[in-house]
Amino acid sequence: MNSASNQEGRPDQRVWPWMLPLLLAGCGPGAAPEPGSTKADGKAPVAATEVGAGNDPAAIATGKRIFRFDTFGDESFWTDQLKMHEVIVKAVDPKTALSVGLKVDAEALPPEVVSGIKDGSISLTSPETTVALLKLDAVVGLKGTVESVDGKDRLTRVGITCALCHSTVDDSFSPGIGKRLDGWPNRDLDPGAIIALSPALTAQQKAVYGSWGKGKYDPRYNQDGLNGPQVIPPAYGLADVHRITATGDGDDIAYWNRYVSVTQMGGHGSFDEPRTGVKVSNGNDDQVSSKLPALQAYQLSLSSPPPPPGTFDPAAAQRGKALFEGAAGCAACHGGPSFTDANTRLHAPGEVVSEPEPAGVPSYASRSATKQYRAAPLKGVWQHPPYFHNGSAPTLEAVVETYNTRKSLGLTPAQVKDVAQYLKSL
Ligand code: HEC
Ligand code: HEC
Repeated sequence: MNSASNQEGRPDQRVWPWMLPLLLAGCGPGAAPEPGSTKADGKAPVAATEVGAGNDPAAIATGKRIFRFDTFGDESFWTDQLKMHEVIVKAVDPKTALSVGLKVDAEALPPEVVSGIKDGSISLTSPETTVALLKLDAVVGLKGTVESVDGKDRLTRVGITCALCHSTVDDSFSPGIGKRLDGWPNRDLDPGAIIALSPALTAQQKAVYGSWGKGKYDPRYNQDGLNGPQVIPPAYGLADVHRITATGDGDDIAYWNRYVSVTQMGGHGSFDEPRTGVKVSNGNDDQVSSKLPALQAYQLSLSSPPPPPGTFDPAAAQRGKALFEGAAGCAACHGGPSFTDANTRLHAPGEVVSEPEPAGVPSYASRSATKQYRAAPLKGVWQHPPYFHNGSAPTLEAVVETYNTRKSLGLTPAQVKDVAQYLKSL
């Protein structure tokens, strides 16, 4: 970051006069709702950011910048190998970008862009507009280098950041354009479809990437060659959870951040895991290790979003709580403040109702370091359907029904609903 950047890592981010109406409408810098509040438009509340004891605000601010804007040098992969900069310039106008789930940070847009989008003078069907948005650092999770060549803006490098999969926006400007919500999984994003646009892949690879669909990504396919996409999980609500990922592979977030930044994003650094035999090293300049503590501090500061008022029936949730803690037996694994026993044990696939996987898909646990599953933390679970590592349950009712059937719990349909209402209240 150069010295002219502010702490968000974005140059020259002032409050412009054009922002006034947006600020008044509750969207814009300084207009973030209080933690836990619901915006007047009834949209979901913004994830609260807490700075608890022992957390260093400077590290959190640095981590936020890394989470949003750092590529760890992964342009080597996305530009030099996959040629995604060429794909974007040729085929990805903003409309296409939004249709594959990419999000635009409204707070990064200057007045002429906002008015141009509003009055239609800026074309949302021209890839040049995408380049202009990348130049503004306004495409969430994509980092472009735009250089002036013969007086014309050219996209010369592109890379990805953590925010691509683990941030979305609140749609306050228009669908897909709004204020960033860090830690919220982008379940509209189709990472496989985006990667499949690369001219550098074989037809077979393209078929695999193209098979995943929205909100899913297989973070092991390029290592073990197996195909079993995972639902993109939230990166919030992990402060008390010391087993990371659906299979509890790491004891802290940094373990998995190293894995993803090196083996998936293509960042410069190394990852070595004897339990799975994954050993990857990119470049000679480690751009990952020194960033992991701050990056972890930022994620630990993201608490899960409380349920928007009016989204569950309190009386039913109360009855559901009694069942959850009693007859339905849920609390045996989903106990404690984060509703998980992950810090003391993991669970064999045979105990877990989301296995066997859908037809033809290899067991995800079998591909992991632990070969087991972590009881999923449940705070904020209302926010991120579909459920289970493989997304096999579309709703919380479907989750409870799955347990009811697979574990022969004998819950009546009304009781299933009550437990689901309780889950919606967490
Ligand atoms: C291409 C999409 C993608 C990108 C980019 C990505 N992740 Fe993830 N992330 C995933 C998926 C999918 C999983 C689920 C893996 C699993 O459970 O085995 C995951 C898991 C996680 C988890 C574990 C959550 C939990 O409940 O234990 C954290 C934390 C996380 N990612 C943070 C990050 C950070 C930080 C970065 C940047 C260094 C990053 N991710 C980049 C897709 C992505
Ligand atoms: C034997 C331990 C165990 C018991 C008992 C148990 N769970 Fe789970 N639960 C898990 C594990 C392990 C996972 C993760 C499975 C996966 O990722 O596919 C999970 C996942 C979930 C999820 C999905 C969360 C997400 O983020 O996708 C919900 C919701 C849930 N359980 C609710 C319940 C309810 C309700 C009950 C009681 C009816 C219950 N669980 C009983 C271990 C258990």
